[in-house]
Amino acid sequence: MSLVTSAAPAGSALSLVEGDMREVDAVIAGRLDSGVPLVGQVARYIISAGGKRLRPVLLLLTAGALECRNPQRFNLAAVVEFIHTATLLHDDVVDASTLRRGRSTANEVFGNPASVLVGDFLYSRAFQMMVDARDMRIMRILADATNVIAEGEVQQLMNMHDAALDEAGYLSVIRSKTAKLFEASAQLGAVLAGAPAAIEATCAEYGQSLGTAFQVIDDVLDYTGDPAEMGKNLGDDLREGKTTLPLILAMQRGTQEEAALVRSAIEQGDTEHLPAIARVVQRTGALEGAQALAAAQAGRAIAAAGQLPRNAYTAGLIELADQLLQRRS
Ligand code: IPE
Ligand code: IPE
Ligand code: MG
Ligand code: MG
Repeated sequence: MSLVTSAAPAGSALSLVEGDMREVDAVIAGRLDSGVPLVGQVARYIISAGGKRLRPVLLLLTAGALECRNPQRFNLAAVVEFIHTATLLHDDVVDASTLRRGRSTANEVFGNPASVLVGDFLYSRAFQMMVDARDMRIMRILADATNVIAEGEVQQLMNMHDAALDEAGYLSVIRSKTAKLFEASAQLGAVLAGAPAAIEATCAEYGQSLGTAFQVIDDVLDYTGDPAEMGKNLGDDLREGKTTLPLILAMQRGTQEEAALVRSAIEQGDTEHLPAIARVVQRTGALEGAQALAAAQAGRAIAAAGQLPRNAYTAGLIELADQLLQRRS
C-alpha cells in the first residue's frame, strides 16, 4: 500500500505526516539496540523490511486533526509500531509463516526461539518508552491494548479448526488481535491533544472500525491477493485451519457439498483443496460479502471522523479509511 510511504501521491492528505514519520523512524532506529547483538540483528531484520507503518500514521493523523504538537507523539508512535512488530514476530511463529514484508520471516532466518525472545524484547522496550510520557492514562491504554491483543491471539488459537465459528466469534477475535491496536493508536492521538472525553471516544471508535475493516480485507486478500504485492504467502489461513469471514460466508451461502468441502478443509487444515475452496469462496459471493462488511466498518470510521474538526488531517483519516478498501498489500 503506497499510501503511507514516501510514494504517497503528491497532495495526498497523508503526505501531511511524512515529516513526522521521519522523526518516528529516527526514534525507532535509536531504540533498537541492546548490549546483546542478536537482539538488534533480529529487530533490524524485520523493521528494516518496512511495513506500512499504519498504526504510527494513525496516531499522528489523529493528533494532527486535534492540533496536537506534543513531541511525545513521535515516541508513542514508535511505541505502537514496536508493539505491532512484536506481535508479528510472535504471530509468524504461531502461524508457522515463512514470508513477511517480502522477506523470509525472522523465524525462518533466526529460528523460533530468537523470534519469540526478540518479540519479548520489543514489547518490553515499548513499555520502557511509554513511561517517558509520564502519563498513567497513556500507560493504561497501551497496557490494556497489549493485553487484549494477546487474548485475541489465544482466543484464535482456541478457535482453530472450529468450522462452527460464527461471524460474531470471528469479529470478537479480530477486534482484539488487530483492531485494538488501531483503536489505541487513534485514542492516544486524542489523549496527547488533551481532547475532551467525547472526542477521545470518537477517535477510539474510528480506530476500532478502521482496524476491523483492515483485518477483514487482510482475510479476503489471503484468497485473492498477489503474494508479491502482499509480501506474504496466500492460503496461510486455510492451511492453519483458521475460520475467517470468507469461509464462514462461503459455508452459509454454498450448496451442501460446497459447505462440506470448506468445513472439512478447516477441520483438517489442509491446502490440498485450496483451488477448489477458492472457487467456492468466489462462486458463493463470500468475498463480496466480506468486502461489504469491511466497507460498512470503513463507513463507521468515516462517520466518526466526520465528528472531528474539519481540517487536512481529518481529511487524511477519511482518505485512509477509503483507500483501505482497495488495498492490495
Ligand atoms: C499485518 O499488519 C498483521 C495484520 C493485522 C493483518 P500490517 O499489514 O499492518 O503489517 P505491516 O506492518 O504493513 O507489515
Ligand atoms: C495478525 O493476524 C494479527 C496480529 C499479528 C496480532 P494474521 O495472522 O491474520 O496476520 P498475517 O496474515 O499473519 O499478517
Ligand atoms: Mg499470521
Ligand atoms: Mg492473515
